[in-house]
Amino acid sequence: MENNRSSWGSNLGFLMAAIGSAVGLGNIWGFPYKMGKSGGFTFLIIYLLLAIFVGMIIMVTELAIGRKTGKSIISAYNEVSKKFKFLGWLGIFAPFVIMSFYSVLGGYSLQYMSLNMAELSFGLSGIFGSKITGGDTFSSMLVNPFGCFVFTLLFIIICMLIVRGGVEGGVEKFNKIGMPALFVMLVVVIIRGLTLPGSVEGLKFMFVPGYAVSAGFISEAPNIVTVLGTAGGQMFFSLSLAMGVMVTYGSYLDKKENLIQNSAVIVIADTIVALMAGFAVIPAAVANSMAAGIAPADMALGGPKLLFVTLQDVFSNMGAIGPLFGVIFYLLVLIAAISSAISLMEVVSSHFIDKAVAKGQKDPRKKIVLFVALAILVEATLVAVDGLGSNGIAPMNLLGMSSAPTFLQDWLDFMDCWSEGMAMPLGAMLLGVMVGWELNPRLALDEVEVSTKVGKGFETFYTICIKFVVPIVMAFVLAGQMQDYFGIGAISYIISIGILVVFWGITIATKKK
Ligand code: PHE
Repeated sequence: MENNRSSWGSNLGFLMAAIGSAVGLGNIWGFPYKMGKSGGFTFLIIYLLLAIFVGMIIMVTELAIGRKTGKSIISAYNEVSKKFKFLGWLGIFAPFVIMSFYSVLGGYSLQYMSLNMAELSFGLSGIFGSKITGGDTFSSMLVNPFGCFVFTLLFIIICMLIVRGGVEGGVEKFNKIGMPALFVMLVVVIIRGLTLPGSVEGLKFMFVPGYAVSAGFISEAPNIVTVLGTAGGQMFFSLSLAMGVMVTYGSYLDKKENLIQNSAVIVIADTIVALMAGFAVIPAAVANSMAAGIAPADMALGGPKLLFVTLQDVFSNMGAIGPLFGVIFYLLVLIAAISSAISLMEVVSSHFIDKAVAKGQKDPRKKIVLFVALAILVEATLVAVDGLGSNGIAPMNLLGMSSAPTFLQDWLDFMDCWSEGMAMPLGAMLLGVMVGWELNPRLALDEVEVSTKVGKGFETFYTICIKFVVPIVMAFVLAGQMQDYFGIGAISYIISIGILVVFWGITIATKKK
């Protein structure tokens, strides 16, 4: 790097960090369940196609913009396009807001790990009654705002300490140990899960097209547009795209590294871990719920309930060895959450660090990371105290509503709606418009070519994807998210396609002048 900005120690270190960011709660509680619900193997194919045609393309583009400018998110977008400068702000807003609930969920994992550890070491199964059951533990946890606050705080402190350590000394170091460790723990949990009697039902749920409906897990199959929206949204969140992460991580990357190959490795690794997570959790969750006589339609196989109710029951029913698996599993979840959270914290911090350095401050990282962590603590406290809407301060309660669309039901969903739901697909859609139409696809390709010759084939493929496939697919994803969060039906398509057409129009019209 020509300036004295931080950089990765090695390409492997970068890959571990980027994979660490990608591998998170989305892989563990999102992917396997959505795959099962949305058509099993068919969903997997759609997901992979989207990952190649959209995910990979955005990944290459973000890494290229980051490395080309060597700047943090806002300055990077500012440098490539004045007109689309606001995308940089979107890219700092979204990760900041995601941290509000990611920290709380990290705090839950920390609590569950501690509980299992306490049971393992002192047989403290009596903390919440006679035996830890997932349901009781989870509801007692949610209605204990102080406890949730403390563990959220602890989680934020852990992330802060890592990010304070810097790019190489903190983020890279953590991931270089954390990612292999996560992998090993995942294998251990998979072996245990697949050897539980009845686990094959879970495998069928995950892989066999149509099985979710015929076995009664869901009442009707989602239509193809919904599946596309689900797969696209999941892919985006899971690959940490349109969040400033890959731009920021790319800005620390050496000019000699191959951006296409690196992107492919990240996408493949993330998908493999998502599938492995499926093997680890779904068969065990289904087997155990079946043994308890729970009907398929009532099993909680996704979201917070999967992690903190269904799986805790699996461990509680394993006998003496249960708490040990509990500790391993929640530690795994915790590592996955930390490795993603530190990427989000790094995006926000790096913006202010670069600014301070430009003003001549010497080594402002520690101070800035502390301030960012404090700001995150404020918003996370709201989500922690809300306890997924258990404590009467959910947005709908404050508004005096008795029923409300998803985004008002609790603070987690509220935060999730604006960040993952809206900012992410909007940012990705407009990134396609910016690079494909306002600038030139060559912008990214030239940066790739600093180290690697790009064949004619890839050039054409990239150009078509960034100009057309990315914006159109993202408009559908945005529409799908609007439907989910606001419950506004088909109007969401009109709104999102409208936004795309307006931006396309303005971009092309103002460019010709
Ligand atoms: N990719 C992470 C996950 O799957 C979440 C995340 C999104 C992290 C965006 C960073 C940026 O859970």
